[in-house]
Amino acid sequence: MTVLILTCEQDVTADMVVARLDGTGVPVVRLDPADLPGGVALSGEFVHGAFRGHLSAGGRLVTMSGLRSVWVRRPGVPATRVAEPSAWLTEESAQALYGMLRSTGARWMNHPDAARQARHKPWQLHLAQRCGLPVPATLITTFPQAARDFAERFPDLVVKPVSGAHPQEPPRAVPTSRVAPETDFSAVAFGPTLLQRRVAKRADIRLTCVGDRFFAARKAVGQGADPGEPEEVDVRFATSTEPWQPVETPQRVAASVRDYLREAQLAYGAFDFAEDADGIWWFLECNQAGQFGFVEIETEQPIARAVADWLAAPVPDAAPLGGDVSKASVTSE
Ligand SMILES: Nc1ncnc2c1ncn2[C@@H]1O[C@H](COP(=O)(O)OP(=O)(O)O)[C@@H](O)[C@H]1O
Ligand SMILES: [Mg+2]
Repeated sequence: MTVLILTCEQDVTADMVVARLDGTGVPVVRLDPADLPGGVALSGEFVHGAFRGHLSAGGRLVTMSGLRSVWVRRPGVPATRVAEPSAWLTEESAQALYGMLRSTGARWMNHPDAARQARHKPWQLHLAQRCGLPVPATLITTFPQAARDFAERFPDLVVKPVSGAHPQEPPRAVPTSRVAPETDFSAVAFGPTLLQRRVAKRADIRLTCVGDRFFAARKAVGQGADPGEPEEVDVRFATSTEPWQPVETPQRVAASVRDYLREAQLAYGAFDFAEDADGIWWFLECNQAGQFGFVEIETEQPIARAVADWLAAPVPDAAPLGGDVSKASVTSE
């Protein structure tokens, strides 16, 4: 049974996992939906209630029924590399590809429905709080006055995009920034703005979850680039030379995160937390397709290995329709 990886051509993270899968004897097919139709082709006939057919890419053929897992890593938009791209062809190709994949018994990392829901930050904060994780006070608004009132109650704020990444291929990070005192906030009227109480943190935490395996890493807040200047608030832009180091996940946090993943039906999630002076981990977000290469390289935590193991695990028996849903958990291995 084959592992299918949907991702763009240049994806070092996928390379790391493919390298781990190579030694296992489990066949792997990697393709970019952007190449469908063309470099990627598909055919499936609806017979006896299921699609029998195959996908082909790079001269390799994989039968739909022979898929054990699908890793939706960083796929391109279907049909964007054809001679005459159109929104219509993209939709047709997406429906054909993902529609057929949905009807196989393959396990998903992550299922497209779960992934779509999990990208919404407001929903993330809601779920995190429900699962018992502390969430900093947050306001999303287009009302300048609401922003001013919020800033009066929480004078030390950060601003960050509601959606996370910039719509670009590959996605570009938009830094979280501190809000200067006396900010006027009139521009809030031009686009929804996410303001959040700044956690006076002593470290950033990245907790990468693969099925039920957790890898937590901690990066202590360092000094700013110039003496006397505070460090950048966004860990991705910090000049600090403090390394990412492995750290234990507190038991209560681990229990909450397990609840979060189960509720969100995610097989993979990379959580960002800010650790305050009391050691409390404040939930910032959960990236359902977050990078893990940078953590693995610095901490030597075997995350790619864990992803490969998850993808290579056998397909569970199909749950009967109308059967016991509790046995059909997406995250169970
Ligand atoms: N409220 C906050 N207090 C302190 N640091 C924050 C806060 N919010 C974000 N950060 C920093 O900015 C980084 C990016 O913010 P995050 O919430 O993860 O959004 P995204 O990664 O989607 O832009 C975090 O990893 C953290 O280093
Ligand atoms: Mg983040």
